[in-house]
Amino acid sequence: MHHNLQSITLRDQLKRDYPWTTAPLIVGAPMRVMSGPEMALAISGAGGIGFIGPGLKPESTAEDLETARSIIFSSSSSSSSSSGIRTLERDVLPIGIGFQLWNGSLETSAAAVGKYRPAAAWLFAPRDGLQAEVNTWTVRLREVSPETKIWLQVGTLQEALDAVQSSREGGKPDVLVVQGAEAGGHGRATDGVGVITLIPEIADALFGNEKGKNGMIPLFAAGGIMDGRGAAAALGLGAAGAVMGTRFLAATEARISKGYQDEVLRASDGGKNTLRTQLYNHLRGTLGWPEQWSPRTVVNQSWVEQQAGVGFEELKKRHDRAVSEDGGSKAWGPEGRTATYAGAGVGLVKSVEDAGAIVEGVRGEAVGIIQGLQELAKL
Ligand SMILES: Cc1cc2nc3c(=O)[nH]c(=O)nc-3n(C[C@H](O)[C@H](O)[C@H](O)COP(=O)(O)O)c2cc1C
Repeated sequence: MHHNLQSITLRDQLKRDYPWTTAPLIVGAPMRVMSGPEMALAISGAGGIGFIGPGLKPESTAEDLETARSIIFSSSSSSSSSSGIRTLERDVLPIGIGFQLWNGSLETSAAAVGKYRPAAAWLFAPRDGLQAEVNTWTVRLREVSPETKIWLQVGTLQEALDAVQSSREGGKPDVLVVQGAEAGGHGRATDGVGVITLIPEIADALFGNEKGKNGMIPLFAAGGIMDGRGAAAALGLGAAGAVMGTRFLAATEARISKGYQDEVLRASDGGKNTLRTQLYNHLRGTLGWPEQWSPRTVVNQSWVEQQAGVGFEELKKRHDRAVSEDGGSKAWGPEGRTATYAGAGVGLVKSVEDAGAIVEGVRGEAVGIIQGLQELAKL
């Protein structure tokens, strides 16, 4: 009985929607600034779906999409086209783009999506956590680019129900990314749980008894997936594919400082050494995140000293000094002071590899595990 395994049920649909991909689907998350066009294209080029993250300013999105397009054009004229590049025939870029709604600009984003037509737009974190804002973005982006699939990242059953059942006409997402508590970067501040329960509960609530009532929306698992074991587990839970963020921080193409990347390789024991706090947003001057979300980061001196009672003003001074001195080489690491957003699975990330090799390695390992488990079922 495979009826609850989306990776099998939706295989043909996903192949139609993302024709350059290979099952099982591995997705690179849109990490703010760190997931740039080079990484997104490398992930898609290996048969996954690479997302560009939100940039420092709303205008950065169009610049990144322009870069992606020119890389595709230059490689398709100089070498025989890879499968990803062939989708240009439909004028759709074989990558996705991520948006954070609460501080994003819908009109700037819509202009970029309309011009470049990425295959997918990933929405996250509406103002005040409200589905109404998600609806507005979804409807507008579909107006400017009907081919662009709308992905929405949620972290609770309620958010999933709101997205599917309370979305206004034309506002239902094409994909729900179900983000578990282990996830790096921003996620549910206080009411997150792991994907091992969240995916099946959302699947049952949406598609359970009354099959077809909500159609079958692909669920993609995010949070804590670092290798083929996690990806195979996600598929076993019923997800259509697996999303990784933290693992791609250790890709050669990631737009990340060396000190940050070194810390991702070094850190382990994520339950003990990562946590969710707004402290690092505030130290970096990012204010205004809706209270529903806070970022998971690797612990360093700023947190340790805050716990010991050092006041924010002093922490900020020490933070700014660490970031500006010695080219920022002291910003990260256990003695460092700045944000090191990464997931609870950070201890499983051991080396820097090309993003394409990561996709192929994780996919191959997942397939091997699934084949291996078939032996168990024969007994
Ligand atoms: C450094 C970092 C930055 C992130 N930035 C964003 C973002 O801008 N928008 C978004 O929707 N998700 C963002 N995420 C969350 C990812 O979309 C995804 O849910 C998460 O990385 C999955 O968990 P993992 O890190 O354990 O793989 C970020 C994650 C990390 C680690």
